[in-house]
Amino acid sequence: MGRRAIITGVPGVGKTTVIDGALKRLGEEGITYQSINFGSFMFDVASHEGKAKDRDQMRKLDRNVQKDLQRMAGKAIAAIEGNVIIDTHCSIRTPQGFLPGLPEWVVSELKPDLLILVETDEDQILQRRLKDPTRIRDMEGGKSIGEHQQYNRMIAGSIATLTGCTVKFVKNQDFLLEQAIQDMAATLR
Ligand code: AP5
Repeated sequence: MGRRAIITGVPGVGKTTVIDGALKRLGEEGITYQSINFGSFMFDVASHEGKAKDRDQMRKLDRNVQKDLQRMAGKAIAAIEGNVIIDTHCSIRTPQGFLPGLPEWVVSELKPDLLILVETDEDQILQRRLKDPTRIRDMEGGKSIGEHQQYNRMIAGSIATLTGCTVKFVKNQDFLLEQAIQDMAATLR
């Protein structure tokens, strides 16, 4: 049984960028992790069943459909052996309010050793979202992004209490990507 690390952060904070950098660094030292994107697992099922045409449509689906997709993804990912990184969300902003990305019945399957929250200043996240033409982002201001980051910290505490995992905050600030990569690699080492 390897280590299971869940990595979260609000959309556009740069978690995938930091994960890729950290895995490259660790790979050079012979430490390997399989990186799994939770949303991709959900999207594969959703698109196969004709429920979503792109990843950004998923958070607009009926909440019960989203929960079914989560359950399927959680079970499939829990069966993966070895060191695993799960790139996902503590909470998803939906039209009905925040949906927990990792409810009890998902984390109890995943049994994480470690939870990492990637964070930065909300105005930097807003700029990164505006510069990314490949995604259909929800329109929200910096204050709202900041509230979402705060809410995710509360959820992280609940997940730690439920599972006994440790919680680490990794800052991914503009011009300091290298520092974020080093910090994440050290946490996963
Ligand atoms: P997901 O695939 O996780 O998409 P996302 O949250 O939108 O994440 P992104 O990949 O767009 O952003 P990122 O934070 O990884 O940033 P990136 O590295 O690309 O989820 C998709 C959907 O799946 C969700 O909306 C939801 O519906 C569903 N889902 C997932 N998990 C779920 C769950 N558990 N339950 C229910 N639903 C779930 O970087 C962004 C930009 O920033 C890039 O341009 C990059 O170059 C730039 N950047 C990064 N770092 C820096 C830096 N230090 N300085 C300057 N620019 C930087």
